[in-house]
Amino acid sequence: MASSSMSLESPLRAPSHQALTVRSLLNTTAEEREKILEDVEYNIFSFPAGLVICDFLSDSGTSAMTDVQWAAMIRGDESYGRNWGYYCLLEAFRDVFERGNARQHAFQSILTGTATVEFYKNNLLKAHEGGFVNGGINQLEDPNFFILPQGRCAEFLLFSTLRGMIAESQQGTASGTPIVISNGFFDTTGANASAAGFVLETFTQPGLTDPFPEELIGKRNLFKGNLDVDATEAFLDEHAGQVALILMTITNNWAAAQPVSMANIRAAAELAKRKEIPLFFDACRFAENALFIQDFETGYSDKSIPEIVQEMFSYVDGFTISLKKDGLSNMGGVLCFRDKSLFAERHKGIGSHLKERQILLYGNDSYGGMSGRDLMTCVVGLYEVTKENYLHNRVLQVRSFAQKLLANNISVLSPPGGHAVYLDMDNFFYGCDRSPGDFAAVGFTLELLKEYGIRAAESGPFGWQWDKKSPEEQKKIPNLVRFAVPRHVMSDEHINYTVGAIKKLHDRRHAMPNVKITRGKDMRLRHFACGMKPIPVENTIGGTYLSEASRQLSHLSRAIGQDDAITKQLLSALSLAASGWGQSPVPQSINTSGWVSSVSNDHAPFEYSVVLDQRTGEAELRFLIEAQPEGTNIEQLQESASKLNESIAAEYSTRVSLSRFELVRDIFMPKQAEGNFAAWHSYASTKDGPEWKIYLSPCASGKDKSLSSTRMAFERLGMKSEWDLVEKTMTSDDYVIYTSLDLSSEADNARVKVYIAHNGASASIIAQKHEAICPYASSFEIQRFFESMSGGSLGPYQGKPLLSCFAFTSKAPGRPVGTVHFPIDAYSKNDGEVQQRIERYMLAKSVPSLYKERYRKVIAAVQRRPLAERPGIHSWVSLKQSAGGALSNAFYLSPELFAPMQIPI
Ligand code: F0G
Repeated sequence: MASSSMSLESPLRAPSHQALTVRSLLNTTAEEREKILEDVEYNIFSFPAGLVICDFLSDSGTSAMTDVQWAAMIRGDESYGRNWGYYCLLEAFRDVFERGNARQHAFQSILTGTATVEFYKNNLLKAHEGGFVNGGINQLEDPNFFILPQGRCAEFLLFSTLRGMIAESQQGTASGTPIVISNGFFDTTGANASAAGFVLETFTQPGLTDPFPEELIGKRNLFKGNLDVDATEAFLDEHAGQVALILMTITNNWAAAQPVSMANIRAAAELAKRKEIPLFFDACRFAENALFIQDFETGYSDKSIPEIVQEMFSYVDGFTISLKKDGLSNMGGVLCFRDKSLFAERHKGIGSHLKERQILLYGNDSYGGMSGRDLMTCVVGLYEVTKENYLHNRVLQVRSFAQKLLANNISVLSPPGGHAVYLDMDNFFYGCDRSPGDFAAVGFTLELLKEYGIRAAESGPFGWQWDKKSPEEQKKIPNLVRFAVPRHVMSDEHINYTVGAIKKLHDRRHAMPNVKITRGKDMRLRHFACGMKPIPVENTIGGTYLSEASRQLSHLSRAIGQDDAITKQLLSALSLAASGWGQSPVPQSINTSGWVSSVSNDHAPFEYSVVLDQRTGEAELRFLIEAQPEGTNIEQLQESASKLNESIAAEYSTRVSLSRFELVRDIFMPKQAEGNFAAWHSYASTKDGPEWKIYLSPCASGKDKSLSSTRMAFERLGMKSEWDLVEKTMTSDDYVIYTSLDLSSEADNARVKVYIAHNGASASIIAQKHEAICPYASSFEIQRFFESMSGGSLGPYQGKPLLSCFAFTSKAPGRPVGTVHFPIDAYSKNDGEVQQRIERYMLAKSVPSLYKERYRKVIAAVQRRPLAERPGIHSWVSLKQSAGGALSNAFYLSPELFAPMQIPI
């Protein structure tokens, strides 16, 4: 498996821990897992964990505890009233969230059994006020710290109690439903707040799914989890008095585990203060968030994690936290709010209400539904989780997981966040035409569990209930699958196995089933409990020539970042070129014994090509098409080609001129023509506008006259000396295969091109010819290109002949531009091998990441089957050398209309 080149550049980091206890895994088979999936209605949450090999369902409560935590557990105190874990937890919260570097570590005396009466009096029972954790008598009189079994209990307690108090204070007034604003609600948080009667508003900083350069991962971070403070302020201005709370989730689990910057927390706090609205954290992953601040935010690299955490929490009025995440424990939650804060003052007495309900629902205030042993693990967990060494190891493991996926051509939301890697399923299924309601990403998770015993959760249209949302809300739902990495549990072995499995499924994504909900579609948080069924997908081409070409071209156009207007131009050019015959359904197979089009290697009447600039990644998309004749004789071919010429000239009258074609028409379209093609047309959406070109056969006036016909054509076009230059280099193994003309009205810039086939030539022979003709040719680049494309050979290439193209203009007569074309499908086992060669070439040429991304997406745009299955998609790859050493490659792609479509899963 390819490993990320980044890891070689990164500093060598020492391990942060050892494994002292291990659990053996049961080795189950795909067949066994498939049967069980059926038994659990294909709901991955219901799948028995004991049969899972790598479980990425959640990082919550799934961490391996440290030996210090286990030691503390033994020291747990299960007394009903005021167990010592309670005091330790209060002190731990003061230490971790308020004291910065000046921690007091009260738990150590308890752990070692050295706490004395004095210690109780002077430390554990000491009065505290004004912070998140009142102490002594203050916690009794003004309770502000509530222990609970887990995070959602804290959320429930907060929202239900707050809503009750707001309702009471609103009695008799006409105030509307109170609102909670967040940078991203976790599902239980949102569900608890809305169940309590709050309206939710999410303002995440825009750009969550924007591409991020792979090479900047680990070097820069955009804190994509930030609250959109401007949008929040605008909303607050419109809804004065209605917003009860701003809740910032750190890291932002809703937004793909992305961190929130200190600057953003500060700005949110300033806004909240100005608008007099309490600000809370959902602090589940506060420590991971602090590491991102230290790593990426200016001014924090020299600050310790405890100092950064202290500053983060200094800005808020309170927080909920699930200690199952950055508490490194298997259970535990806390709700606390700052004594005497805006929140405390606005909702006077809320502490007592909270306490009453805590006792009623969970247990008395000194354990809140937790065992004394678990309390002790939480206490120690908070210290363990804020160790810098641990945090680096943790975040780097997640980052390297993401980088390994990227190195394997799997798109992940980037940069990766703190606790999870999120596969970008729109990119995963690019070109596969899955719509959000198909729940194909759920299908992927089912295949992953069935085939490899790996469990990950969809976090996209299914999880976020796309089918029940308004079109406006639907647009905001990203299409992701989350791999949450449990802390201290996974090794590189697990990560590598998982990356390999994802790669294998990506290779056969076209056969991934969609999913239908069979039970419980309308349940709240349905993903935990509903029943599902995989629906196999059909992979046959059902449409017409035009619909299929439009589909693939639209994907290609988007793959290179063209805007909708350009795509529309492209499709209308296609529709013009395919008028009439384009409406015929694509047959299952074609009879190759009669006349068939040779435009594409699979005999489809069209072929696509994409040019990518090696320096900038700039792209151009083109299609080559043959107007299909009524019958199959050459006169009918000429007739359909001429008809298309006329329609193009009429439709594109400002840009197209046939005058130069008319000069040579009788050479290439004579009355008694020979050969099997009259003309092909190509269309390109260039940055200057649409361009049409015509390809003509030099053999039309006789196979033996191909040289003299070409010479005559060049003479008529005023390019005699240009042709002489080419002809001088030709040897007996070379022959002219096409001539092409730009049908452009700009006569000076319109190119005349000639294509020469080199039978059995070597790379150096072809390169020498280019050096003799073209001032921009580099023999080295040509040879390197052929060597890469052929998989290491410099020839002679005895199979399908390689081609050269020389392009002349009257504006720059002495400076022809040369292109070499390699017929890659004839020199490779399959498209997977071709892609590997191209990947290696891209690496050797250090092309920009835009080039790489576009190339990969372009292939995905036309692909309908695993690349390794056979050759056929990549037909030709070319290298063009222009002025100033500018190099570009073109990839010629077959639509594969007539290859067998069955995909074995
Ligand atoms: N808030 C956030 C940001 C969370 O990620 C979670 C849980 C909760 C609150 C609720 O905490 O589970 O202790 O009740 N997230 C887990 C996850 C379940 O897999 O992301 P809880």
